[in-house]
Amino acid sequence: MTRPIEYTEEILIDILKNIGKDKLSKRYLDNCNGLPGSMTFIRKFGSWKKALDVAGLNQGLRTGRKIKSKQIDVIFNLEQQYTDDYVFFSKEYLYAYFQNKTHEDCINELIIPFMDFLYKYVNKYGWIFPKTPNEEDLQNLLKRLNKSDGLLSSSSFLGLSEIRGFFNSYWNSFPKNQKMPPTELFFDQSVLFRLLKYRFGVNSSKKYTYYFSGREVEFNELFDISFKQIRKAFEVNHYTSSIFKPLLAKYIYKKYGFDGMITWDPCFGFAGRLLGFVSCFENGTYIGSDPNTLLYSEMLDFVKYIECENRIKLYNVPMEQMELENIDLVFTCPPYFDLEIYCNEDTQSVISYKERSKWLNGFLKTLAIKSYNCLNSNGKAIFVIDSKNSSMLQKFCFDCGFKLVDLIGIKNNKTHLTKKETYEFIVVMEK
Ligand SMILES: C[S@@+](CC[C@H](N)C(=O)[O-])C[C@H]1O[C@@H](n2cnc3c(N)ncnc32)[C@H](O)[C@@H]1O
Repeated sequence: MTRPIEYTEEILIDILKNIGKDKLSKRYLDNCNGLPGSMTFIRKFGSWKKALDVAGLNQGLRTGRKIKSKQIDVIFNLEQQYTDDYVFFSKEYLYAYFQNKTHEDCINELIIPFMDFLYKYVNKYGWIFPKTPNEEDLQNLLKRLNKSDGLLSSSSFLGLSEIRGFFNSYWNSFPKNQKMPPTELFFDQSVLFRLLKYRFGVNSSKKYTYYFSGREVEFNELFDISFKQIRKAFEVNHYTSSIFKPLLAKYIYKKYGFDGMITWDPCFGFAGRLLGFVSCFENGTYIGSDPNTLLYSEMLDFVKYIECENRIKLYNVPMEQMELENIDLVFTCPPYFDLEIYCNEDTQSVISYKERSKWLNGFLKTLAIKSYNCLNSNGKAIFVIDSKNSSMLQKFCFDCGFKLVDLIGIKNNKTHLTKKETYEFIVVMEK
């Protein structure tokens, strides 16, 4: 009969240290022949955690990523440019960090130094715009859009990340209540601090389940900290303006348009409708107007990248200056007065007509009239508009002689930050 091995504390500690931090778990020991089971450790040290503590292998740091100042030095290397998805602190790292550190520690040791680094970094290399999609990325997007059906919903995000990546003008626009675009708000230390605090896990969110090194753990909401995720924080906190969903545009073009048609988009915005058009039909012409100069120059490049120059005509003027005829379909999403600010040029409707009453008559009424005048008989005009401005736009359309064909409400997604449901309307008029 062999005598059971007497495991002294020294032997057990030695075993723990030799297992390798990535494998170290109770389950591993219990399934491994030749090693004492986890209960042996628990009996000897009082608990599994205490065993790990005595061995200097804090449970939270099982992944071996100890918080070393060396790692922090690496993070703050201003000589190096980082890719958009380079993870400065992973969720797992942050989880491990909080096993023996407080929120206060995280603020002082990680967040504040990281903010300092970010400001210096942006000062040196420019704002953290996303990586611009290349021609191949956009061609691939087009293929996916071609294959997808249009969707009468604001829930399809196909194409949005490419749009965000291509149009810096998007990052320079903002909802009016936020006062400035993300590219400027970033420099408001209190805003950046608040966004980072949440993303680093210094928050009181509900508990989320994570799987780190094969172990299920619960913790506050955490994020990998990268440039991409910092921009995402601006988005989910509603600091960015809206983008028209390409698949919603495709649905509308398909339902109300036809292959070979000539369509006018009076306020072309961030290419959502343009993408919907080119992925819907092989022939026809999309005429777009928009006074935003940066957006216009980006849009010219965008059209080159997707190789659709022969089907697209763009004008960098306010819609009020367009003189068109023989149009089959007008389809646009105009500014909703001052809900979103796209740039500070005088040609923006909200700057040309500063009061709402003047904007209604000078801009929205003109949109209805211009649309009516350019359309062939029986041509349709489709406007996606918010509930506040919808009835005035309909009135202006009726005054011109339009008939209402369809009025479709689309519910915007609730997010975990806004509990409010908002509606927009697709107003379909016929001449
Ligand atoms: C961005 S769209 C509305 C947002 C929508 N989600 C989208 O992406 O289509 C509104 C556009 O109207 C443009 N705009 C502002 N004033 C205008 C005017 N007088 N004529 C035509 N377009 C105008 C803005 O530059 C902006 O690009």
